[in-house]
Amino acid sequence: MQNLITFNYTILRQKLVVFTGAGISAESGIPTFRDANGMWGKYDAMKLASVAGFEEDPQAVLDFYNARRKNLLEVEPNHAHRVLADLEKQYDVTIITQNVDNLHERAGSSKVLHLHGELSKVTSSRNRLDPNCIKDYPLDVPIRLGDKAADGSQLRPYIVWFGEYVDNMELAEHLVRQADIFVVVGTSLVVYPAARLVDYAHREIPKFLIDPKDLKGGLPAGFQHIKAKAVEGVDELVRRLEELEK
Ligand code: APR
Repeated sequence: MQNLITFNYTILRQKLVVFTGAGISAESGIPTFRDANGMWGKYDAMKLASVAGFEEDPQAVLDFYNARRKNLLEVEPNHAHRVLADLEKQYDVTIITQNVDNLHERAGSSKVLHLHGELSKVTSSRNRLDPNCIKDYPLDVPIRLGDKAADGSQLRPYIVWFGEYVDNMELAEHLVRQADIFVVVGTSLVVYPAARLVDYAHREIPKFLIDPKDLKGGLPAGFQHIKAKAVEGVDELVRRLEELEK
């Protein structure tokens, strides 16, 4: 019998890495953090998004996150999320996001790395990174005082709070280093270590930054600023990517 030889054609597509922040979800109705009507203008981040805050008033923290979790059921991905998902037809796309919403996934992006956790998951308050304790949790079910994680500790949101270790930063840095094209969308680049990612992109690759405003810290070196909201900026990005292909 003739040997059947199967060829596995993996068409080497360019690696497009997209680093997103709250701005990409703004048009979905999720407020950003540091804009005029931003979340940290209304709420005290240190009281509601820190371990000390959770220890001091766990109910207030759970109320804050339960409201955001429930709200996630009422919002949809927007055009910007969808265009990034569509780019998977031409590129090997990886999304690295600071956002804790699930809008990239719901828009169809298949590779999404969350640096700051996910509203759709819960974990242990004794060891946040215990894989036996991290699990999906229905967004419409409040996390209550007395609910237990697998290790018997109080259940908490699977969110990286201020001062907590960002455990997949090395992977994120590796992905940015490997990028053939790097895009930043909707982040003020003021929170570290996440903001450091822009330093890992190779100097000679095309780099774009989509934001309607000029960044307080200035445009990172070598980036083209697409000065627009994400929903318009992504269409301009596609035009510029098409130019690169010519
Ligand atoms: N389209 C694109 N960008 C926008 C839009 C929009 N419609 N609206 C606002 N922006 C931009 C703002 O100009 C700003 O540069 O999005 C950025 C939002 O910045 P932040 O509110 O600081 O949000 P982000 O950078 O994601 O915050 C980083 O801080 O509080 C922590 O963990 C939290 O992940 C968050 C991190």
